[in-house]
Amino acid sequence: MKTILVTGGAGFIGSHTCISLLENNYRLVVIDSYANSSQLNLDVIRELLDNEYSDLSDRFFIFNGDIRDEKFLQDIFEKFKRMEKSIYAVIHFAGLKAVNESISKPLEYWSVNVGGALSLLKIMNQYNCFQIVFSSSATVYDNFFEGILDEKATLNPKNPYGRNKLTIENILNDLYTSQPDLWKIAILRYFNPIGSHPSGKIGELPKKDISNLFPLISQVASGKRDKLQIYGNDWPTIDGTGIRDFIHVMDLADAHLASLKYISNSRSDVYTFNIGTGKGTTVLELIRIFEKVNKCFIPIEFIKRRKGDVACSIANVDFALKELDWFPTRTIEDACRDGWKWQMNN
Ligand code: NAD
Ligand code: WQD
Repeated sequence: MKTILVTGGAGFIGSHTCISLLENNYRLVVIDSYANSSQLNLDVIRELLDNEYSDLSDRFFIFNGDIRDEKFLQDIFEKFKRMEKSIYAVIHFAGLKAVNESISKPLEYWSVNVGGALSLLKIMNQYNCFQIVFSSSATVYDNFFEGILDEKATLNPKNPYGRNKLTIENILNDLYTSQPDLWKIAILRYFNPIGSHPSGKIGELPKKDISNLFPLISQVASGKRDKLQIYGNDWPTIDGTGIRDFIHVMDLADAHLASLKYISNSRSDVYTFNIGTGKGTTVLELIRIFEKVNKCFIPIEFIKRRKGDVACSIANVDFALKELDWFPTRTIEDACRDGWKWQMNN
């Protein structure tokens, strides 16, 4: 059984990936500082899977700490080495992710995102752990060249968060170049993850202010907010609202499993994949689907465009579909239904 270190495993995408990994017989070591989450998702995962997997307590370990703390990381790598369950690969989710906050708190973002990645990579190197799947973002692309983006599209992030992600990608590339026979690296550039686990029992429960569209739609539907403000109805799209490539978070979780298997079976290299569906949906279309599936009403108000937004951002996923044993299977309807279940439970 392979031991996988999951940093940021209590968060939105991390917790969903933990479920998929546990269901596929991996041993998990989760570390999280709970800067933007709590242990809740992890406790619920234990509850959900405990009946099904009698060995869960021997393969699901949780540590509360900061990825910048090298001693903390070292102790964990050492502990599992001593137990003869050495960490085989890392999935690195931990980090701060709010574009606007990255503009007001650049030092914190560079410290956590880039500083955290450096500490992690240093300790991985020290413990001969050379396989990593890294959470990057579509934000690394040059958003003047909007539209359908393949992995070779121009890179030019416009905010500290995006520059953090690109810097980490560059560090990973440099690391590979320094030891080309050792490192196996998958960089996943996610587009717009939405929804939650179909049980409705785990999902996004951030401590920080929400700015992403899908959780805001859910909050309006539940009455927590009185309306959804839509940033612009004058974009050059079918209904004037922005187009995004929304992907069900469970499909994104499965992409991590596929990437882990892929690097494990491939020669050492850096593999960069867009992870989306390859299909675009407008903001208004998403709202209408949400209303239809969940039989609710979302009051909207059009306001001016948000600074930094683009009309359209869709992933070209040909490379992922060709190389990974993976393709998205859930629909936007599924995401709206599952996300709403989660919202109702909270
Ligand atoms: P999230 O905030 O829910 O999860 C991140 C987790 O990292 C949280 O549990 C948080 O507590 C933890 N964390 C933060 N700082 C830490 C630190 N110093 N040490 C240890 N843990 C720390 O976010 P998410 O949506 O699950 O995103 C996961 C990753 O995917 C992030 O790296 C994010 O940048 C990236 N990403 C997210 C999206 C998205 O739309 N959600 C899109 C592209 C990329
Ligand atoms: C989607 C669409 C908005 C909120 C961001 C990050 C990206 C990645 C995913 C981390 C846009 C519109 C939104 C609202 C609205 N995260 N919208 N009213 O901007 O595509 O991407 O999250 O890596 O890096 O930049 O996602 O969900 O914020 O917006 O009209 O209240 O919804 O204008 O068209 P975005 P989003």
